[in-house]
Amino acid sequence: MHTFIDYYGNEVSLSFRREPFSEQPWHVLVLCRYKGQWLLTKHPRRGLEFPGGKVEKGEVPEGAAIREVWEETGARINNLYYLGQYEVRGRSDTVVKNVYFADIAYLQSKKGYMETKGPSLQETIPEKLENNKDFSFIMKDNVWKMAKEYVENHFL
Ligand code: GTP
Repeated sequence: MHTFIDYYGNEVSLSFRREPFSEQPWHVLVLCRYKGQWLLTKHPRRGLEFPGGKVEKGEVPEGAAIREVWEETGARINNLYYLGQYEVRGRSDTVVKNVYFADIAYLQSKKGYMETKGPSLQETIPEKLENNKDFSFIMKDNVWKMAKEYVENHFL
């Protein structure tokens, strides 16, 4: 278990075990790779981040992962792998999020990308993101750093 403080001062716990915080997480985040690049989405306010969002009623987290990647980037997934789960203890509520790694089969151009501005392919993502205005706060804590390491060690 890894515990740290995020960009907003909330305590975050991350584990690479099978769903240690909740068997019914309501959020997902998907680290996507396409043709040797990271595939992110352009959030209009937060900036660049990996696709993800809320699990809908009647949906399993893997279904939400596939749907969110499609909606926010137009990408179809070849394989989806569970990486871990994290819990953010905010002032008013606690968020539990499953993290996945997806290798992308293809990218399709769409008319709209839900609440985002669509896909963004990045060859590399800068090491230091804390003060980088292009990237979302969700990329600025140890979840991304540690999950990236995990992906590099297991999949790349
Ligand atoms: P929307 O309905 O999508 O606008 O969400 P919300 O503003 O209600 O926020 P959400 O329920 O997604 O999350 C609540 C709070 O948890 C956010 O304001 C963040 O502070 C925090 N949070 C959510 N996701 C993450 C994440 O991936 N990483 C970190 N560090 N904090 C997160």
